[in-house]
Amino acid sequence: MEKIAIMGLGRLGICLALNIERIGYSVLGFDISEDRVSLINQKKLQSTEPLVEEFLLSATNFLATSNIKEVLTSSAEIIFIVVPTPSLPDNSFNHDAIDRIIKELAAYGKQPSTKHVVINSTVMPGYCDSVKNTLGELNYTITYNPEFIAQGSIIKDQQFPDQVLIGETNPDTGNKIEAVYKKLCKNNPRYCRMSLVSAEITKLATNCFLTTKIAFANAVGDIATKVNAEPDKILNAIGSDSRIGEKYFKYGFGYGGPCFPRDNKAFTHFANNINYQMHLSHSTDVANMQHADFIEDVWKDKNSIGAPIIFDSVTYKKGTDILEESQQLKLALSLARQGYKIVIKESKMVISQLEKLYPNMFIYEINE
Ligand SMILES: NC(=O)c1ccc[n+]([C@@H]2O[C@H](COP(=O)([O-])OP(=O)(O)OC[C@H]3O[C@@H](n4cnc5c(N)ncnc54)[C@H](O)[C@@H]3O)[C@@H](O)[C@H]2O)c1
Repeated sequence: MEKIAIMGLGRLGICLALNIERIGYSVLGFDISEDRVSLINQKKLQSTEPLVEEFLLSATNFLATSNIKEVLTSSAEIIFIVVPTPSLPDNSFNHDAIDRIIKELAAYGKQPSTKHVVINSTVMPGYCDSVKNTLGELNYTITYNPEFIAQGSIIKDQQFPDQVLIGETNPDTGNKIEAVYKKLCKNNPRYCRMSLVSAEITKLATNCFLTTKIAFANAVGDIATKVNAEPDKILNAIGSDSRIGEKYFKYGFGYGGPCFPRDNKAFTHFANNINYQMHLSHSTDVANMQHADFIEDVWKDKNSIGAPIIFDSVTYKKGTDILEESQQLKLALSLARQGYKIVIKESKMVISQLEKLYPNMFIYEINE
């Protein structure tokens, strides 16, 4: 049975590992968190992502380790890297976690047979070429293969993607990675194959387009609200135009979460770095904040201090446990700090995070 290694078993990596195991590969997962590795091997990992716990329980060819040597000495020809690339203060990404893995691979020396490193983490354009320079001479190929998934449906989104993006340095390697996805995908996605840097730009530009679409919809909604028109009906009508489409085109909270805001900002940063002023992505960011202020004024007009204001979830997306860049949480916090009585309905997992982060700030109702 062919072995595939997955380095980084976080939100995205664990889903990829489980999906790949189910299509007939033996999967060796590596993560620096010994606790996570142990929970995975004991099949006790808890996740809010649908199907993760179920797939883990039924997996028979998935082993996790926190010892990188086990990956280096394994027969795995394909090595996916799915480790964090947090944003830096200048809005570019910190590639240290990938760099550490590349250093280990390089230190292990030239491979007797070709191995394929596939970077899934979100990186800045140009980064994969630098990895190619380090590992290329050691008989490794480099592929960039970011995923377009939404939190709360990662496993399904990996099985039914619209497109599979493969940044490659040679067609043979691209074919190998495409073959894995041909087994994994239960639909018939478009395989978009291109150079490494083109794929890196595609990943950021896609999220930049989506944030712009969301920000536009919210701006139209705000304008409609100001004159007592009908935001939902207006956006529904505009979205019916097949050139526009109704996905990500509803009136609601601004975009947030672990991907959209940072990818949009990173795209602006990248453009600036090459002396191109990307007005669009910058304005999208400004519009998202403007909308947050607008919504706050609307909520303040509708509510009075003393009467409870109920939030039916404060995560950036209902059903997840992610508070990062949540516009809902920002609003709840701002109102609470101004003296409004905020009642939050959330899962136990989210409430315990909130209690630690903001003691005595909110009233809670458990919402399972
Ligand atoms: N989660 C998503 O929806 C999503 C979507 C698109 C892209 N991405 C990108 O995928 C990457 C991973 O995201 P995530 O959400 O899975 O992150 P995460 O924080 O949930 O998980 C990362 C995992 O990597 C492990 N790790 C950290 N450093 C490591 C190292 N040096 N070696 C091995 N393991 C290490 C951590 O212990 C953790 O388990 C990021 O670049 C992110 O931007 C994530």
